[in-house]
Amino acid sequence: MISMMSSTPLLTSTPASLPVRTIPGSYGLPLLGPISDRLDYFWFQKPDTFFSKRIEKYKSTVFRTNVPPCFPFFGGVNPNVVAVLDVKSFAHMFDMEIVEKANVLVGDFMPSVAYTGDMRTCAYLDTSEPKHAQIKNFSLDILKRSSKTWVPTLVNELDTMFGTFESDISKSNSASLLPTMQKFLFNFFSLTLLGVHPSASPEIADSGFALIDTWLAIQLAPTVSIGLFQPLEEIFVHSFNYPFFLVKGGYEKLTQFVKNEAKEVLNRAQTEFQLTEQEAIHNLLFILGFNAFGGFSIFLPTLLGNLGDEKNAELQEKLRNEVREKVGVKKENLSFESVKEMELVQSFVYETLRLSPPVPNQYARARKDFKLSSHDSVYEIKKGELLCGYQPLVMRDPKVFDEPEKFMLERFTKEKGKELLNYLFWSNGPQTGRPSESNKQCAAKEIVTLTASMIVAYIFQRYDSVNFTGGSLTSVKKASC
Ligand code: HEM
Repeated sequence: MISMMSSTPLLTSTPASLPVRTIPGSYGLPLLGPISDRLDYFWFQKPDTFFSKRIEKYKSTVFRTNVPPCFPFFGGVNPNVVAVLDVKSFAHMFDMEIVEKANVLVGDFMPSVAYTGDMRTCAYLDTSEPKHAQIKNFSLDILKRSSKTWVPTLVNELDTMFGTFESDISKSNSASLLPTMQKFLFNFFSLTLLGVHPSASPEIADSGFALIDTWLAIQLAPTVSIGLFQPLEEIFVHSFNYPFFLVKGGYEKLTQFVKNEAKEVLNRAQTEFQLTEQEAIHNLLFILGFNAFGGFSIFLPTLLGNLGDEKNAELQEKLRNEVREKVGVKKENLSFESVKEMELVQSFVYETLRLSPPVPNQYARARKDFKLSSHDSVYEIKKGELLCGYQPLVMRDPKVFDEPEKFMLERFTKEKGKELLNYLFWSNGPQTGRPSESNKQCAAKEIVTLTASMIVAYIFQRYDSVNFTGGSLTSVKKASC
């Protein structure tokens, strides 16, 4: 268990007594090694088992393996990685002195730049590239400016979303979350990040979220599992790149929407951050579509799913009591300040991010030779080697988290809970870190957790209890006071 003596002993200390160990594992025979690992990863084992079986086999949380995509039609992609699967080894990927992050957002594979206006957007840039600082600061500025309208916009859009859910339930006893939620997310982020309501363009209002869905799915297909029957998924989804022209028309509609409607924010990008109009448009779309909409489309269903149904009555009661005690049932009382007072609601959000980090894999390339330590050994990493962290396992590191497999509502409360935030890594950095131009931590690290806390608080202002089952909302009990 972590020491409470200094703030991050597990990340910073490298006792001289730790043994130096050769990194175990191998990349196997050319072609066969990568393809066998790929089949294990997507088909025979799935990522959780893929990584945990190898931890067991090598008796090490650091080892060599291959990750997809690979052969046959990914000639230029090197699948060899060094997996880093405990809190301490994973944290080396945040140290920009020793790692670089150019083009490794989803591994050695990088979707064609055709998907992003023939340019590398912020998430693909290393901190040594001046453009990274310009765009990162632009994204931080957008968030800062929109913080004034963030809460009323959120509440307004939540009113619409839950109104739709209630009407779906009254018609068919169940409201499917994803379609309504994605419309909500698209509208909300269009308003807060672009400063425009999608209704400015009827076509975008109607299908903007679906255009983003297909743009995301097509570019990320080789790296994610979509649950298609095997071996069909391996043959048709993971074996080659899909060409950009399949989504070109949709992407152009989105860029036109940003160009025509988001004039103010585009202007600021050019005058205050010295970006060209094209850089601003494609980065805005990436931040809105990939980072914000993509991130929340994965996170929000899990968050609501964790509220559960009547079996979770006790958890819901605790959350409801805290919300009602701090802000009652009046929506006007919701604010960033008021949710910061809700220790339990925030802990619920953090625990969801710990057990289900929405972006499971993180990568970083060694900038130079360096020594990497896990809890029990030191390994030599050579310049150019690619580190791969799989967060769902890292966030269940038994040396850091008590009963790591268990969802513990109170885990991040009180002094000990605050200390644990040093080891919560969903944002590609600790929850106690500060995103800046000199690191690669999510620009919205703070606002993501506050927004999620606000959504939970909104729910328990509006309802006494809710019933989320299998991706649907099946019943709600309206607030009685
Ligand atoms: C639940 C929602 C979100 C999740 C899970 C998430 C997660 C992440 C992660 C893991 C990274 C680092 C990727 C890597 O380099 O490995 C990242 C980067 C980034 N995120 Fe988020 N994010 C979310 C929402 C947002 C939102 C709302 C914004 C809006 C501004 C945003 C802006 C960014 C930007 C600009 C970067 C690139 C940082 C850089 O290159 O230095 N994210 N995000």
